[in-house]
Amino acid sequence: MTSLSTSPRSTPRVIVFGNEKGGTGKSTLAMHLAVALLNRGLKVATIDLDARQGTISRYVANRRLFAERSGTAVPMPEHLALNTSPHQIIETDLGNALDHVAACSVVIIDTPGHDGALSQAGHTYADVLVTPINDSLIDLDVLAHVDPHKQTIHRPSHYAERVWKAKQARAKRDGGSMDWVVVRNRLGQLEARNKKLMERLVADLAKRIGFRVADGIHERVIYRELFLDGLTAEDLATLADAREVAMSHVAARQEIRNLISVLGLNP
Ligand SMILES: Nc1ncnc2c1ncn2[C@@H]1O[C@H](COP(=O)(O)OP(=O)(O)OP(=O)(O)O)[C@@H](O)[C@H]1O
Ligand SMILES: [Mg+2]
Repeated sequence: MTSLSTSPRSTPRVIVFGNEKGGTGKSTLAMHLAVALLNRGLKVATIDLDARQGTISRYVANRRLFAERSGTAVPMPEHLALNTSPHQIIETDLGNALDHVAACSVVIIDTPGHDGALSQAGHTYADVLVTPINDSLIDLDVLAHVDPHKQTIHRPSHYAERVWKAKQARAKRDGGSMDWVVVRNRLGQLEARNKKLMERLVADLAKRIGFRVADGIHERVIYRELFLDGLTAEDLATLADAREVAMSHVAARQEIRNLISVLGLNP
């Protein structure tokens, strides 16, 4: 597995969070990954391609305000937000944005939960595409249709096709390849039957359409309760105001550590 140096690189590793289904944890996990990498000393950029909703932009802005308000030095990503407009030349703007953050080791791109030209362009720059899915057959439906009687994968569906096209566009542009990683998010503690079925279906689909499956991320309040301060569980370990650190914070940090590892981003 590749690992990253903490010194500036000429070509940052581009991690895109994408899924055509809304509310699966793209922005949450993008921010948690960014903070975890910053806390490991990497230079990180975040690019918001969902600037209208602006979740990751708000998260970063809240973090900046927290630092000012509390006088605490928290590491910040270089952040850019791109808007879709009829006059925008999307490929050029995205290319310029990536040039602007070329001194970073990692660029994390957050995309909206629906199709669109900007999101499509973002996907074509991915070295790694991370697709979080809620652990539900409804979420799986954008990746594959499931035969209701046999409870097996019937055929890949529209988002899987879009990723395939993005892979082709990427290869055509610079000969590069995209590693696709699917993460089951918001796993419940008490849904043994649903979990087993999802695990089997996702594993089947992985073989059929070529993605890797990361360890799942559980439903934890800690993933959402620090948004207003722009913080994550990673920060709690290092902050001077030492909020109470619970077992679930430790477990969340381990989950993000596992994600870093599966993405090959260990410094
Ligand atoms: N592991 C988790 N545990 C608890 N809450 C979570 C977890 N992951 C995400 N959430 C919550 O789920 C909701 C959706 O998350 P988020 O906004 O990150 O999804 P998204 O995929 O970026 O959505 P959109 O497609 O609208 O951009 C938010 O309320 C977020 O706080
Ligand atoms: Mg989002």
